Amino acid sequence: MKHRFNIKTIAETASTNLLMKGLEKEDLLKNGDVLRAINQTGGIGQTGNFWESEAGKNLTFSLFLDTHFLAAAEVFQLNKVISLAIYDYLVEMKISDVKIKWPNDVYVGDKKIAGMLTHNSFLGDKLENSIIGIGLNINQLEFLSNAPNPVSLKQIIERNYILEEELDSLLQFIYLRIIQLAKQEFQLLNNDYLKRLYGINEKREFKDEGGKFFGLIKGVDSYGRLLIEKDTKKLFTYDVKGVTFL
Ligand code: BTN
Repeated sequence: MKHRFNIKTIAETASTNLLMKGLEKEDLLKNGDVLRAINQTGGIGQTGNFWESEAGKNLTFSLFLDTHFLAAAEVFQLNKVISLAIYDYLVEMKISDVKIKWPNDVYVGDKKIAGMLTHNSFLGDKLENSIIGIGLNINQLEFLSNAPNPVSLKQIIERNYILEEELDSLLQFIYLRIIQLAKQEFQLLNNDYLKRLYGINEKREFKDEGGKFFGLIKGVDSYGRLLIEKDTKKLFTYDVKGVTFL
C-alpha cells in the first residue's frame, strides 16, 4: 500500500511550519499535504530554538493531518506515531542504536538525528488537525549552530542519499503508523513506543524544580507526560517544561 501524501517541494522558506500555518488559516490545506523546503532559512525547533539545516542537504518538511478521529486528550499519540515512523525508517536504513527521546526527538546513540514540532488545532474535545514539522538530518557533514549533539545519516553510513527517495520512504512509514492510529491501536503503539524509548528503566540524572536527582524513566502517560521514579521509589509526572535530562 503506497502512501497517499501529496508532496509539494519549494526552493526556500523561513519555516515550513509557519508557511503551513498561514495556509491553514486560509483553509488551503487538505489531509495528507506535505510541504518540503530545499532551503529552510529560519527553521524553528522546540522552545523556539533555531533548527539548523544546510540548504539541500536534509529533509525539512511539514505534514498536514486531519486528526478529528482523535480526542483532544489523545494528542500525544501523534508524537508517538511520528517518532515511531522515523524510528522504523532509520532501522530500515540499517542504523543501529536508534532510540526515541521523549518528547520530540529521535536519537542514534547519544546524538540527535531528527526532531519534530507540532501545531495542533482543537475543536471542543476533539483534535481537529495537526501540522507536524519534521527535520531529519541526511547528508549534512558539518553542523555550525550550538545545538549540542546533532548527527546525520551520512555521518553514520558515509554515503550520499537522494532526498526525494528518503522522503518517500519516510512517508511510507508514517502512513503505516497513521493507519494503526486511525484503527485506535493505542496499546500496540504504546508498547512499541516504550520499547524504543531513550533511557527507559536506566538510572539517569535529571533536573526538576527541586534540583538535580537520579531516577528511572518508567513510561509516558496518556497525556504524554514523562513518568520518572525517583530513588525514593515515588513516581513523578512531568510535562515538557518540568524536567531536563542531564
Ligand atoms: C526540535 O527542536 O527538535 C524540533 C525541530 C523541528 C524542525 C522542523 S524542520 C521542518 C519544520 N519547520 C520548522 O520550522 N521546524 C520543523
